[in-house]
Amino acid sequence: MEVHPITGVFGAEITGIDLKSGLAAATADALRAALAHHLVIVLRDQHIDVAAHQALTRVFGTPAINPYAPGPDAHPEMTTILKEADERTGVFGGGWHTDLSFLDQPPGGSVLAAIDIPPYGGDTMFLSQQAAWDSLPEPMKSLLDGRNAAHVGKPYGIKWAPPVEEQAMKGSTKRGDPDADRERLHPAVMTHPVTGRKGLYINPTYTLRLDGMSEADSAPILNQLFAHCTLPEHCLRLRWSSGMVVVWDNYSTQHYAINDYHGFRREMRRSTFDNDGIAAWRG
Ligand code: SIN
Repeated sequence: MEVHPITGVFGAEITGIDLKSGLAAATADALRAALAHHLVIVLRDQHIDVAAHQALTRVFGTPAINPYAPGPDAHPEMTTILKEADERTGVFGGGWHTDLSFLDQPPGGSVLAAIDIPPYGGDTMFLSQQAAWDSLPEPMKSLLDGRNAAHVGKPYGIKWAPPVEEQAMKGSTKRGDPDADRERLHPAVMTHPVTGRKGLYINPTYTLRLDGMSEADSAPILNQLFAHCTLPEHCLRLRWSSGMVVVWDNYSTQHYAINDYHGFRREMRRSTFDNDGIAAWRG
């Protein structure tokens, strides 16, 4: 197995592995290490079926069902992300976010497999929350380190629900859940348990305010942070190819599905996994 960095900051392409032929323990260890150090890992030309997708997910943690976008009964931990050629809605994940950060235990990461991709467009962007933290000025670091941030599930609740015409995957996602409007506190800065690197843990889709501050007082600080996170130097833009599989660390990155492929179908299969839980990342 070889690891080829994609940017100078994060992301790596892995070669020399065929996910369809099973994963030896040493290879699984190497994949976990690659994810810990590179945060997003990319494997081309894999064309994995559900069983291989499940096996890869288990390399990184316990498969978790997305309560707002469960998969079919046969494998509910596998969410289908689908936009048909004639749909003109938003897309699932079409804004910067880390998955489900408004849950008590947000998933530790995800595995996304290309099933049917458009001839162009439909890229996914990632940013490194570690790079964003590293390049913050010291006064901002002092303000954030040791402070919690409050997260709410705006797209899935009632209070902040987007207009129906903007909702992606209306038929297959759970909406209007009052519990999604409940604030959950998580550290605004987390420490990777393997590498010891710090990273921001805030995102514009779900983070409402900083703990100890009102929403109004938090807004200018959070907006400045969100803009800082998305600086090109912190980002990676991934162009999908047929059969590609990507795994990301959900606590150290944000991602964004780009909705620029009207007229073409795009289908992806996504699983998420729990690892040791967010408690292992505090401090
Ligand atoms: C997501 O997982 O938020 C969507 C990713 C994608 O479809 O590219």
